Amino acid sequence: MGFMNKVIVTGGTGYIGSHTVVQLMNAGIEVVVLDNLSNSNQGVIARIEKLTGKHLEFIEGDIRDRVLLRRVFERYSLNAVMHFAGLKAVGESEQEPLKYFDNNVSGTIVLLEEMMRAKINTFIFSSSATVYGNPDTVCYSETTPLSPINVYGRTKLMVEDILRDLKKANPQLRIALLRYFNPVGAHISGEIGENPFGVPNNLMPFISQVAVGVREKLLIYGGDYPTPDGTGLRDYIHVDDLAAGHLAALNALSDSHSFITVNLGTGRPYSVLEMVAAFEKASGKKIPYEIVGRRPGDLPEYYADASLAKKLLGWETKLGIDRMCSDTWNWQKNNPTGY
Ligand code: NAD
Ligand code: WQD
Repeated sequence: MGFMNKVIVTGGTGYIGSHTVVQLMNAGIEVVVLDNLSNSNQGVIARIEKLTGKHLEFIEGDIRDRVLLRRVFERYSLNAVMHFAGLKAVGESEQEPLKYFDNNVSGTIVLLEEMMRAKINTFIFSSSATVYGNPDTVCYSETTPLSPINVYGRTKLMVEDILRDLKKANPQLRIALLRYFNPVGAHISGEIGENPFGVPNNLMPFISQVAVGVREKLLIYGGDYPTPDGTGLRDYIHVDDLAAGHLAALNALSDSHSFITVNLGTGRPYSVLEMVAAFEKASGKKIPYEIVGRRPGDLPEYYADASLAKKLLGWETKLGIDRMCSDTWNWQKNNPTGY
């Protein structure tokens, strides 16, 4: 990984951050995690240490805390920032927009200011396919117009815009905007995985909580979409493939590629009913479900054109729907109540 040997990971106790931290540490990179634990559990740290056999430096704190950030950047000589910290619940973002603009946009500005002050030049941002909104295609490439349809999505687009402008003003910066599709799955060991607080918003953790008996049945939002089986189609990506995409991006941020914008997806969508069937096969459990009305704001279908990531990062996904389901199940059955 060249000279990028010391990385701060904001949101590193969260779902995607924790899987990326394991891969960074296994690649010999020193990691400092900063997280306010607003949507994660400190128990993940011990699991990461067990998986990697190494100590992980953890700071409980908020990206909006400028004094803390300054101290952290002074104390550790870091050379890159991976920025996962943020709020991600679409429905909540509509109810509490200021909370989302504050955490996701203002928080990122504070982080960027302190990063610039500390003369750190490399920044990797967790963006989302949600920045595309509702374009007139279902296969999103990086040049598809950006027009998010909810507050959460607008916070991601605002940060992308900030980063594009920041790069123009500071050519020495190396920035990657990684637009994730639908992350699912867990580490193969079953030690770390997705651990939502409260009722899961997303399909996969809901299915796995039904399988383990925490919830009675899955509600499928819409059976009358113009798709082959009437349920929504999404591009689910295994979290360990996604984590690997971050290491590939870190590696690719060189003089010739100093501003990278890429989709991280598989390019192959699955329907809700296909996910249910695959999970039943992987777990040996029946997933009771009921088809109910559509969820407001949901689209029938979308998936990534994943070709640019392959070209620029030399990265492509390796893990299919079977591993997405079996790894999720392994994590869920070993940790029925989370960490
Ligand atoms: P997560 O909630 O599991 O992880 C985010 C972490 O950030 C949590 O541990 C939370 O405690 C922390 N955090 C939140 N606000 C903070 C703040 N102000 N200061 C410090 N820490 C803070 O979510 P995740 O699924 O791992 O997502 C990581 C990133 O990827 C987020 O930015 C999210 O928007 C983005 N993303 C997620 C998905 C997805 O479906 N999971 C898809 C696209 C993009
Ligand atoms: C997937 C499919 C639902 C739950 C969201 C965000 C997006 C990104 C990823 C962060 C859809 C159906 C779901 C349930 C269901 N996050 N479903 N019953 O909505 O594609 O994307 O997470 O950036 O921005 O919007 O993901 O997992 O919620 O839904 O039938 O209980 O499963 O209708 O077709 P989504 P999801």
